Amino acid sequence: MLWNTAPHNRQKLAIARRNKLVVANWKMYGSLALCRETINQLNHIIQPGADLIISPPAPYLSELGRLAQKTGIHCCGQDVAAQQNGARTGEWSATMLAELGCHHAIVGHSERRQHHREDNVLIAAKAQACIDAGITPIVCIGETLDERNAGQLERVLGQQLDALLATSGWREAIIAYEPVWAIGTGKVATPAIAQAAHQFIREYLAKTDADAAEEMMLLYGGSVKADNATALFAMPDIDGGLIGSASLEVHSLVRIYQAASLTSRAAAQMTL
Ligand code: PGA
Repeated sequence: MLWNTAPHNRQKLAIARRNKLVVANWKMYGSLALCRETINQLNHIIQPGADLIISPPAPYLSELGRLAQKTGIHCCGQDVAAQQNGARTGEWSATMLAELGCHHAIVGHSERRQHHREDNVLIAAKAQACIDAGITPIVCIGETLDERNAGQLERVLGQQLDALLATSGWREAIIAYEPVWAIGTGKVATPAIAQAAHQFIREYLAKTDADAAEEMMLLYGGSVKADNATALFAMPDIDGGLIGSASLEVHSLVRIYQAASLTSRAAAQMTL
């Protein structure tokens, strides 16, 4: 089943809902050489049950998209404006990403929330702009350490989800749970902690639409590495990962992708 039902690119997307999914978020790192090396090393290991999306800095999207053609690897924006065009120097729209062949854009990453003061309402508007342009937003949510320690986890995630739930297109989104304390710190959430948050998110969405919640892709992000990916991806409500620093080393991205492939439903069915 195709999971993006936006009318004008329904035929293009071949990523099945609740396949395992690895999203490589290069942040403001990388190079044209890394684009070439990543596609060269990964294009022949793509398996049916696990999908791979690379999100390079915007200047590399066009070249990465060209290199990734017919490989099964998808490219993705790291952000997007809430508008489709306008006098907004330095921004780009979801329509432009779609024109480049991107099927996805990350929105609401905690670095955008922190450094660019993006709030839940703006992030929801960006998510809807993606859906309107026929691309899938990967909406990042997560709590800070202070919020977790103060027992505010569910309140914070609930508020972040409420903003998304107020959009008409929320069912088309992917959600990435990224606890802020785990991003770039090397302090990964244990599989049990991550699973508990993912289960909370799925149950929260289910209060609005149980079928959509069951189908929704939920990714974990925050210090995922080659040696912890399998245990995280094996959790029932974790459908893959949003990978920062480890995605910049091609060898570790290969191993993380292999962890996704190993823990996919397709792999489980093959061993039955
Ligand atoms: P990290 O980053 O894997 O380097 O912790 C994850 C992210 O920011 O998406």
